Amino acid sequence: MERNFIMKVLITGGLGFIGSHTVVAFLEQNIEVIIVDNLSNSEYFILDRIEQITYKKPIFYNVDLTNMASLMQVFNDHKDIDVVIHFAAYKSVAESVTEPNKYFRNNITSLINLLDCVKDAQKCKVVFSSSATVYGQSENLPVRETEPFKPALSAYGASKQMGEEILKTIANAHKIPSIALRYFNPVGAHKSGLIGELPKGVPNNLMPYLTQTKAGKRDMLTVYGNDYNTKDGTAVRDYIHVVDLAEAHVMAALYLDEGQSDSIYEAFNVGTGNGITVLEVIKAFENVNGIKLNYCFGNRRDGDVESSYADTTKIHQIIKWKAIHNLDDMVRDAWKWEKSLC
Ligand code: UFG
Repeated sequence: MERNFIMKVLITGGLGFIGSHTVVAFLEQNIEVIIVDNLSNSEYFILDRIEQITYKKPIFYNVDLTNMASLMQVFNDHKDIDVVIHFAAYKSVAESVTEPNKYFRNNITSLINLLDCVKDAQKCKVVFSSSATVYGQSENLPVRETEPFKPALSAYGASKQMGEEILKTIANAHKIPSIALRYFNPVGAHKSGLIGELPKGVPNNLMPYLTQTKAGKRDMLTVYGNDYNTKDGTAVRDYIHVVDLAEAHVMAALYLDEGQSDSIYEAFNVGTGNGITVLEVIKAFENVNGIKLNYCFGNRRDGDVESSYADTTKIHQIIKWKAIHNLDDMVRDAWKWEKSLC
């Protein structure tokens, strides 16, 4: 059968924060998208928003990846999937500390079920959502992909380390071309203001807490620690605009689909390479949006590393991807999205 698109991708967790932006990025390249999402941490209306942005409607399955029979049905319905982009996972570091079994059951079972389907599908490749959390506090900064992993401090972090190991082993055994993308700190939102991060309950992460504070949903942002050995005492991260991160998935999928890789499995950092302090994020938010934020300093948060930022040489050289948005874009777009929710 003739296909009128260059590639067909299946995106798990495609209605989530990073997933929805990635769906948009693929649709804008005229790539066919199938979304599998169980709506456990996402909202159905995001599907309409994706259509409003792209004028295209992806195929949607409300399927839980731990349900193997339902997942197999998706692959039976679509025998010509070129690449699977696997986002669907639980992602709260704090919750994973109190409920590790829930995290292992969901994140690991989902991955293994998916890889079983991919193995049988043939010609299907995989892009896996990993995290900079696999490094812990790296000895060397900026951190390169060759940096050894530190013992994980949470079941979430462990599930990402294990996820990479499982993918690498299964990919090599069954010759499934695969990539793990290690995200640093994804923030921001689509410039349309139609999609963005939708945290359930009180946010753990800096950017949604910050925007919710300004929106009046939270009283005050607490900066966790101002006694770190950094330029202003607050912790350093590599914040990356979610639209750039989405684009990295398109580039990685095209790279895999074009068969450019000599190795079956590779891991890549996805960041900007710039280390930014918490105070710098707050100042940029205030300056770009012309507003003042209510914040105070508190104790360090358990499990936080002092500094984490990426060496992005590998992804730039091999996949030809580079971030194009800066911190001002991130805080402007994050605030535009938050205002749209008020
Ligand atoms: N922070 C505050 N106040 C807050 C929230 C965060 O000061 O209310 C600080 C944190 O202490 C940290 C920085 O802002 O210094 C960034 O914190 P985030 O929670 O936004 O991000 P993390 O770097 O802790 O975690 C992120 C992802 C994880 C992932 C990790 C990888 O959220 O999923 O990066 O390093 F595992």
